[in-house]
Amino acid sequence: KQPHIVVVGSLNMDLVVNVNDFPQVGETKLGESISYLSGGKGANQAVGCARLGARVSMVGAVGSDAFGQQIISQLEQEGIDVSGVKQIDDVATGVASITHTPVDNSIIIVAGANGRVTPHDVYEQRQKIAAADVLLVQLEIPVDAVQEALRIAKEAGVLTILNPAPAQKLPIELLQLADYMTPNEIEFQQLSGKSLDTPQYREVAADYCDKLGSSLLITRGPEGAILYDQGAWAEAAAPKVEVKDTTGAGDCLNAAFATMLAYGKHSDEALRLAVHAASISVTRYGAQDGMPTLKELSTG
Ligand code: RIB
Ligand code: NA
Repeated sequence: KQPHIVVVGSLNMDLVVNVNDFPQVGETKLGESISYLSGGKGANQAVGCARLGARVSMVGAVGSDAFGQQIISQLEQEGIDVSGVKQIDDVATGVASITHTPVDNSIIIVAGANGRVTPHDVYEQRQKIAAADVLLVQLEIPVDAVQEALRIAKEAGVLTILNPAPAQKLPIELLQLADYMTPNEIEFQQLSGKSLDTPQYREVAADYCDKLGSSLLITRGPEGAILYDQGAWAEAAAPKVEVKDTTGAGDCLNAAFATMLAYGKHSDEALRLAVHAASISVTRYGAQDGMPTLKELSTG
């Protein structure tokens, strides 16, 4: 059966400037090209889930401008239900200004319409959320809206996945609503106030999770990811690949992990496939364009 995933989160237009090297403060550099690409952690993860065969509903907001239109039609082309994405008149669509060099990225986000998603907007989508197999959320919309989504899902017995990105501190009440948290190492330290720079980092992390009653997937970039679930650790190493663009790699990993859990796969297997999916995504340019299909994941 086709699983249903609801993503409550951000939609951005990514303005990606390609340049050889980062400018110094006060310096002007000549860029090579610019691309306008649909992005936002929420929308990226929605596309990632859809490519892997899930039925996906997106909940969020864009402005009533050309960027907003473009983002919505892109999601529609991926077969995603966008009836939960509102268009707001007096605010701009969210934007990510991305400087992309051959070795790295730097990103500035302007929330725009994403900052106007309210708990009420989320509540209006409660039937959809409660009927889903998995709810997937990130932190590019207001935290109270994220918490409302988690609350509705949890109450309905829907599996909840919180990707706590970008990093910030969160109320414990919110964290307790997440069945899985999927931070990178920096986000974990922000969340928990605990450093992973210790030989006993697994004990530190496990202890933190046990107190919350959540499972934990920590992403580790080129090193893959580790998972603490039901009292046991699993790990998946990332294959060595030729990296073209890491933008959206974390989104791909989250999408694949969510989708594989929604298909009913064991979390160890979901972890392995998620790391594999992310490693495919970094070989391609662009966040959403990099998301692999189910076929690519099983043959690649
Ligand atoms: O995770 C990658 C995304 O973060 C980009 O698409 C950009 O929009 C930022 O939100
Ligand atoms: Na990519």
